[in-house]
Amino acid sequence: MPFVTDRYDPLDPEILRDPYPALAEQREREPVFWHEGMDSWALTRYADSVRVLRDHATFARDPRRTGGTVPEPSLSVQTLDPPQQNAVRSLFMTALRAQDLTGVEDRARLLVRDRLDQLADAGPFDVVAEIAVPLSVAVVADLLGVETPPYGEFAAASDAIMRSMDGGLNPALVEPGRVARQQLSDLVDSWFASSARPGLLARVRQATAADSGALALLYMKNTARVMFQGGYSTMAAAAGNAVHTLLTHPGALEQMRERALLATGVDELVRFDGPVQGTTRTAVRSCRIGGVDIKAGQKIVPLFAAANRDPAAFERADDLVLDRTPNRHLGYGWGPHACIGTTVAQAGLRALIAALNDHPARLVAAGEGVRRRTATMRAFDTLPAALCP
Ligand code: HEM
Repeated sequence: MPFVTDRYDPLDPEILRDPYPALAEQREREPVFWHEGMDSWALTRYADSVRVLRDHATFARDPRRTGGTVPEPSLSVQTLDPPQQNAVRSLFMTALRAQDLTGVEDRARLLVRDRLDQLADAGPFDVVAEIAVPLSVAVVADLLGVETPPYGEFAAASDAIMRSMDGGLNPALVEPGRVARQQLSDLVDSWFASSARPGLLARVRQATAADSGALALLYMKNTARVMFQGGYSTMAAAAGNAVHTLLTHPGALEQMRERALLATGVDELVRFDGPVQGTTRTAVRSCRIGGVDIKAGQKIVPLFAAANRDPAAFERADDLVLDRTPNRHLGYGWGPHACIGTTVAQAGLRALIAALNDHPARLVAAGEGVRRRTATMRAFDTLPAALCP
């Protein structure tokens, strides 16, 4: 019987405010621990997490490898493991590399600049609704080459999907997530049927047409939905977290006027307080991690938030070090399921920070933000700020 500790409760208000002290304590006391609520082994050390993320032969992402099932709408690059995953992953990576990310970044910077102009005289505003959400929807739509959907509607569907990632902790979130996933699948179907604009989707569509298999088309459409929804929600959460970190570290925003620090700083912001707190794998066979016996079929949760503050992997792990190089953090994952959109996210975050620095008014906090009550995704529901002349 595994030893039980639920002292790390990701939904506890104090942990939502600042999870890092509790994770550090857990790493010190019991780095690999059984979490009853998550019904999983949780990993807090960087090295253990990298090992699990790399070794896809032993640690499965695809539930079918351990006797589970995957509903059709969820079959995508995210749920398939190598070698089945290889073709779809490489197709999306190749399509992404062919996109003009400098153009995406420039347009994103202009969008944030325009919004800041509009907000300059409006008094306090919510960074999430007014900047992070529009920026993220626009960046991902621009990349894919589709019409930007109405923010409100899209954000509501995306939030339902984001919340359903906590379905293990709260099963009531699963059904709204399924319905929202269907809504977004319909939207992606309409893009596949009609969108003639250049962009990532046009390229993927072209390549899919060459491979007429119905399964291939299903994987491509589902992956396009993951790119759009997953890309948007993590990007929006990252933008909110990044602005919060900058507002609470005097001088950091201004230092990022320097190009080199802007480039390294956006990665450090994701390491320091990134949006994705962890992920799940399932052991295909019995094994040992950090001296703990794991049985075949048990779930394992590498906690990125803990790994990214592990002093064995990062000097001054609890400090924001804008020029940290190298910075092999796990904020974008690792191994065959590592983020496909890292370069896009970096471009979007650079655009946001450059636009904040371009603007003549200075961004200041206008009260405490409200953290979203989600365990897998660390985000703000609202983050009040104001522009000071
Ligand atoms: C700062 C923003 C972002 C962060 C922190 C982030 C983080 C992550 C992480 C941690 C994973 C791996 C999860 C796992 O191993 O289970 C992942 C996967 C993924 N991300 Fe991102 N992401 C961001 C933005 C984006 C964007 C903008 C896109 C698309 C335009 C995107 C597309 C994807 C896709 C398609 C996957 C699944 C890859 C696979 O399973 O093979 N992400 N992301």
